[in-house]
Amino acid sequence: MFFDTHAHLDDSAFDEDRDEVIERFRKAGVNRVLNPGCDEKSTRMAAELSEKYSFICFAAGFHPEELAGLTEESFDSVCALAQHPKCLAIGEIGLDYYWDSTRKEEQKALLQRQLLLALDLDKPVIIHDREAHGDCLAAVRQHPKLRGVFHCYSGSAEMAEELLRLGWYLGFDGPVTYKNARKALEVLQICPLERILVETDSPYLSPVPMRGKRNDPGNLPWICAKIAEVKGLSTEEVARITAENGCRLFGCP
Ligand code: NI
Repeated sequence: MFFDTHAHLDDSAFDEDRDEVIERFRKAGVNRVLNPGCDEKSTRMAAELSEKYSFICFAAGFHPEELAGLTEESFDSVCALAQHPKCLAIGEIGLDYYWDSTRKEEQKALLQRQLLLALDLDKPVIIHDREAHGDCLAAVRQHPKLRGVFHCYSGSAEMAEELLRLGWYLGFDGPVTYKNARKALEVLQICPLERILVETDSPYLSPVPMRGKRNDPGNLPWICAKIAEVKGLSTEEVARITAENGCRLFGCP
């Protein structure tokens, strides 16, 4: 059993063959997927997919890259979708200073609103942190009761230790299989197995040997195999333990 805790199946990259892709990865043993939303439209589509497929659940949220499209109406819709029975988290939310470093204060305000929503609904969060490590850490530290995952973790080993102390999970994706993965592997070494989540971030970040192609949850075993190699376990053990971790954090039924 594999649990891909981060796949954007609603992405237009799957418009041509979404149902076939889903059928294929299911047959390959990936039998649980969490689809985070990035704005109102993608959260709505993720909710629809979760209604169509029993093994798909979703998260509701406004990604920092979607800041320009934010309106009060769209934010209210995301809040309403967050109450859907198959919405297991608030995400994908966070800070992205690589994409836009000129609107940091607006990004931080949007993040705080959504952290408060998560606390209000007692749901975990899925954090996107790109070149904003210090501010992301500061934001989550303001809320000791908050729990969740730093998706596609890209910070230092020191910051990872701090997050682990605070009870957070770390998400590992295709980049752990890349040749230049030194930093991610360093973090993997110190991250206890019970705090690791595995994610594809489909359709992006395909692992080796699929690098460069469209990614989908069927590639999750390549990521688990790399983690298994680092931890000295079998791929099956990593798959089982990380699936249990995901179910524990997200409260899967
Ligand atoms: Ni993502």
